[in-house]
Amino acid sequence: MTDLPETTRALIARQTEGRKYATAFEDIPLADLPEGELLVRVSHSALNYKDALAITGKAPIIRAFPMVLGIDLAGEVVESASADFAPGDKVLVNGFGLSETLWGGYSQYQRLPARVVQKLPESFSPEQAMQIGTAGYTAMLCVMALTEHGLAPGKDAVLVTGATGGVGSVAVSLLARAGFAVSAVTGRAEQEGFLKSLGAAEVLSREDIDTGGRPLARERWGAAVDVAGGKLLADVIAQTKYDGIVAACGMAGGGDLPASVYPFILRGVTLRGVDSVMVPMARRVRAWERLEAELDRDLLAELSETRPMADLPTLGPDLLEGRLKGRIAIEI
Ligand SMILES: NC(=O)c1ccc[n+]([C@@H]2O[C@H](COP(=O)([O-])OP(=O)(O)OC[C@H]3O[C@@H](n4cnc5c(N)ncnc54)[C@H](OP(=O)(O)O)[C@@H]3O)[C@@H](O)[C@H]2O)c1
Repeated sequence: MTDLPETTRALIARQTEGRKYATAFEDIPLADLPEGELLVRVSHSALNYKDALAITGKAPIIRAFPMVLGIDLAGEVVESASADFAPGDKVLVNGFGLSETLWGGYSQYQRLPARVVQKLPESFSPEQAMQIGTAGYTAMLCVMALTEHGLAPGKDAVLVTGATGGVGSVAVSLLARAGFAVSAVTGRAEQEGFLKSLGAAEVLSREDIDTGGRPLARERWGAAVDVAGGKLLADVIAQTKYDGIVAACGMAGGGDLPASVYPFILRGVTLRGVDSVMVPMARRVRAWERLEAELDRDLLAELSETRPMADLPTLGPDLLEGRLKGRIAIEI
């Protein structure tokens, strides 16, 4: 390629002392990008919970320094030493160690190993793919866990916690469109209208599902998608119906699980852990195919906004402190 710039603007974390680091926008020489078969011109990235933790330094996401942040990216291949990709291919990466051990998406250009890169689904623009981002793709992995368990619409309600957040809002949209009666749990009662517009049948507060610490309570829903962990997840499990399933993917409310074995041994409840970072490529591709087929584009537009890369330093704290809702794509 002859028209490549000499530098790429990126949000990079440099170690200060011990595990502490400082982040700043820098113009990094293209020649200093890490090794990899593909050079990608990044048009969009995303803001996820993990990105907010990395931006603010609230949790040790970064495992090697210096590190370019951004766990997601979408863009176009400009150089390829891989037989699987050619210049001009539109591509996508979710997780796979970006912003942890591999340089990530908050950079105009990024060099990547081909094994972490997948083709952008044809019916999504790079911006739409990043509006979905890791959070939306994880919502689909949770929905896949429920449907693989045999869950079908028309019978029991499905509960979604953290419903106004990234994973939660996409999960509500996907499940409602598939015909499930969705009970959306939120700490923000003022967002009831937003959640109903995504298709929630009812909106509950976290207190509405509080069992008061009881390990088993009245059976209320057939399945759940939980992003909260902690006591809320214990409450969810305690009220899941016989043979039901809970897909647990997050810890927005805590990393502990103050629950008992009774829902598992007396009701046959399944607790299914969902990871998005190291999912094998075939399952990622399947998840994105289902997103193409099942995600309502109008709802995606309604629950998303796109912000410039320059806003990232303030968007991180905004997300963690509950000032954002839905999904944020980042224009690079
Ligand atoms: N396993 C994986 O691979 C994977 C992938 C993506 C995300 N995650 C995890 O999933 C979680 C959600 O991610 P996200 O991108 O959706 O983040 P997000 O956009 O910040 O949404 C999180 C939502 O959780 C709710 N919440 C916040 N504090 C809470 C508390 N103390 N108790 C209960 N609910 C609380 C809030 O929703 P309401 O205000 O509506 O209650 C908030 O909007 C995070 O823990 C993230 O790390 C995991």
